[in-house]
Amino acid sequence: MQLYITPDDAVNKKVIADAKAAGYTAVVISIDAPAAGKSDEVIRQGYKFPKLPKPYLQHGIKSGLDWDDVKMVMRESGLPVLIKGVTTPELADEAMRRGLAGVIVSNHGGRQIDGLPGSFDVLPSVVKAVKGRGVVLVDSGFRRGADVFKALACGADAVGIGRPVLFGPAVGGWEGVQSTYARLAEELAFTMNVAGVSTIAEITDKFLIEPKNV
Ligand SMILES: Cc1cc2nc3c(=O)[nH]c(=O)nc-3n(C[C@H](O)[C@H](O)[C@H](O)COP(=O)(O)O)c2cc1C
Repeated sequence: MQLYITPDDAVNKKVIADAKAAGYTAVVISIDAPAAGKSDEVIRQGYKFPKLPKPYLQHGIKSGLDWDDVKMVMRESGLPVLIKGVTTPELADEAMRRGLAGVIVSNHGGRQIDGLPGSFDVLPSVVKAVKGRGVVLVDSGFRRGADVFKALACGADAVGIGRPVLFGPAVGGWEGVQSTYARLAEELAFTMNVAGVSTIAEITDKFLIEPKNV
C-alpha cells in the first residue's frame, strides 16, 4: 500500500491495520508531498484536487516527517517498508542503514516543486549508495520502453509509470489502458532485441555510455 502519514497516529495505525487485514504485503511511505504540489506548471494549469480518493486524508498530511515516523510504520505493519520521493544517495543510504526494504527514486512526476533533480539524474548515485541492501524503484517521466531499459541498465529493480496510465483511458477507454501497457512492453521488448538480450537480468550497465566516453 502507499501511505501518507497523517498528524494523527491513531489514524495512521488504523490505516496500516486495515491494509494488513486487506492483504497488502508492503508499505510505501510517500515522503515528498506534505501538501498539494505547487510547481509552476501545476499552478498554470489551475489543477484542483478532486474529492479525496483516500478518506483518511481528511486528517491532513504530516509535515516534517522523521525517522520515528518510519519506525512506527515498520513496527505497526511488520511489513517491508519503502520510502518514495528519494532524490539523494545520502537519504537512500540512511534508509538502508535503518532497515528499510527499499527506496523509490521520484520527484513526484515533477509536479510537487520545481528545481528537484530528474529521477534519471540521481538514479545511478542512489543505486550505488544502496549497494544491493534493498530494492531501488524509480518513477517520474518514464514514457517509452527504451526509458525503462535505460533505468534497468542503471540498476533500478523496477520502473513506475504514473500519468501514462491515465492518458490511455482518457483517449481510448479500457482499450487505452491495455494499449498503454502493451506499447510499453512492445517498446521494451524491441529495445532488448536490438541490444541482443532476451531477459531482464541481462540488462546491465554495460549498455550505458560512461560520461568519460562521450
Ligand atoms: C492522478 C495522480 C495521483 C497521484 N497520487 C499519488 C499519491 O497518492 N501518492 C504518491 O506517492 N504519488 C502519487 N502520484 C505520483 C505518482 O505516484 C508518481 O510519482 C508520478 O506520477 C510519476 O511520474 P509520471 O507521472 O511522470 O510517470 C500521483 C500521480 C498522479 C498523476
